[in-house]
Amino acid sequence: MKISVLGFFFVLFAPSLCRVPSETHLRTELEHASTPPRGWNSYDSFCWTVSEEEFLQNAEIVSNRLKPHGYEYVVVDYLWYRRKVPGAYTDSLGFDVIDKWGRPIPDPGRWPSSKGGKGFSEVAKKVHSMGLKFGIHVMRGISLQAFNANTPILDTAKGSAYVESGKQWRAKDIGLKERACAWMSHGFMSVNTKLEAGRAFLRSLYLQYAEWGVDFVKNDCVFGDDLDIDEITFVSEVLRKLDRPILYSLSPGTSVTPAMAKEVSGLVNMYRITGDDWDTWRDVLSHFDVSRDFSNAKMIGAKGLLGRSWPDLDMLPLGWLTDPGSNEGPHRTSNLNLDEQRTQMTLWAMAKSPLMFGGDVRKLDETTYNLITNPTLLEINSFSLNNMEFPYVSGRKFRRKRKVLPQDFAEGGMLGKRAFGLTTCKDPKANGWSTKALDQDLEQICWREKLEEPPCLYKRKPLLASGVEMIYKQQYEGTLHLLASDGMETCLDGSPRRRLTSKEFGGGSFSPCKRDANQMWELNANGSLVNSYSGLCATVGLLKDDAGSSEVRSWIATGRRGEIYLAFFNLNLEMTVISANLADVAKVLPWKNLKGVSCKYHEIWSGKSGVTKQLISIAVEKHGCSLFVLTCV
Ligand SMILES: *[C@@H]1O[C@H](CO)[C@@H](O)[C@H](O)[C@H]1NC(C)=O
Repeated sequence: MKISVLGFFFVLFAPSLCRVPSETHLRTELEHASTPPRGWNSYDSFCWTVSEEEFLQNAEIVSNRLKPHGYEYVVVDYLWYRRKVPGAYTDSLGFDVIDKWGRPIPDPGRWPSSKGGKGFSEVAKKVHSMGLKFGIHVMRGISLQAFNANTPILDTAKGSAYVESGKQWRAKDIGLKERACAWMSHGFMSVNTKLEAGRAFLRSLYLQYAEWGVDFVKNDCVFGDDLDIDEITFVSEVLRKLDRPILYSLSPGTSVTPAMAKEVSGLVNMYRITGDDWDTWRDVLSHFDVSRDFSNAKMIGAKGLLGRSWPDLDMLPLGWLTDPGSNEGPHRTSNLNLDEQRTQMTLWAMAKSPLMFGGDVRKLDETTYNLITNPTLLEINSFSLNNMEFPYVSGRKFRRKRKVLPQDFAEGGMLGKRAFGLTTCKDPKANGWSTKALDQDLEQICWREKLEEPPCLYKRKPLLASGVEMIYKQQYEGTLHLLASDGMETCLDGSPRRRLTSKEFGGGSFSPCKRDANQMWELNANGSLVNSYSGLCATVGLLKDDAGSSEVRSWIATGRRGEIYLAFFNLNLEMTVISANLADVAKVLPWKNLKGVSCKYHEIWSGKSGVTKQLISIAVEKHGCSLFVLTCV
């Protein structure tokens, strides 16, 4: 057997070990997720609707064009077991394909190779033959459908029904109905891991995934607001014992704190630290504070399951996309402009987030391709160290401050200086809405009418396209669309996982009107305005900062060839001159002895180069960023 370099290092750094473990064990310990995982995920472009053909077409292109840049995982996101038939949607009940043990299996309509009990094994084989790794999304616990059918539980050791104390255990014995997933209440619930039968059920799921050849699981509705530490702990234990590593990822991460992450980081390889990220500026913005907090807490690349773990800022919704909660596949381009996309990629790179591309790569345009394969960003993402927010940065207005314009209003969910949020309908603070008639045909819904200029939205019956199934119509009878202004086709949107966090007042946002449950609202008698999709209620609050104030951010990191990376982010609504002093760079990287040195710099987006001994300064576009590579001697 060859003596591997890894073995050499291991011995070097662990001299107290008297026995060198086997090479395979060694490799797993040191290599699993040693850099932030990178790949493609079907959610942003297909929501839940992706088919085998679409998935494999994407995988083929990932293999040819993105694999050379380290994108190695291809992941099927949620509800691959749901039949795509009229009436089925993201929280429908009774449309799932389950086996006799209550386990979800791929919908044979969308995944024809799964027929005959093959599950995902044929797809995994094809993915592996492309040189890629195969991932799937899974929900917490057990489905309500399996619970209602009271399916027996498989004992994987015996290959027959699980029997304990003379009793055959079933779904209703282990399902915790009171712990249904908050954002998919008709979908899944936790199982009782205190019961051996509950653990047997989870084991039967994950051993099956391993048998299919799955390399990556994204476990959803177990973290953040939905924390189920028992399930995470047990699943991690099952995965640890497999003879082949499966990367373990947690989602979503609404209201996650570093303290909560510390409980799970050693059990997993990546975990989301925000709610879902979509292509709005508000979503990009919401990642700055939280990624700083996690770098300060030393969570980036901390010890994880059989290797390392990474705080995950979510997929990159760039290129050719669909909408959250939609039954439709990709049909529109990203709403972020190029400056905003660069800001997102640069923050994700500097914070060493996993990079999971979300757009349909069959329609990958050159600009997006160049951005997601930018060699400097990918080098930073994989190999930089000492990644942290750099606080000694200042911004100066390039031009005079201007007012918030209507186009800003449509983008971010703002109403003047106020912003929409989503909260539980039990919160009496949400009871502030009332109807106001403008004329015979036109009505508004306004927030707290006693305010001098109450924020108002325009009421309209939702668009129900012709040919929409009856079920859909009945379900949304009496609901409203709420438009930003009369004649402007942007509707208030309340997707379920973008709810208020303590950090930011966010949540609702505007997007082009469509027949989407996310955009349907109902006014209750008590003045609360409930969203049909999430069941959450709309509120209006003051923005923490008047959206025009000078907000600039910066991140710093060191490279493996001695270089320093310095990124400037302009969060303002106008062009801003951003500056930092070399003396302050020297202060945060004391071991590099930068006092009095001069640095060559190269800014990657503008191509500007030069030498400086003091100041680094550049004018940055609204919502844009600059990225300097510094070489100091
Ligand atoms: C307002 O009414 C709705 C619908 O009846 C109810 O679900 C909600 O809890 C109520 N909110 C408060 C704060 O009473």
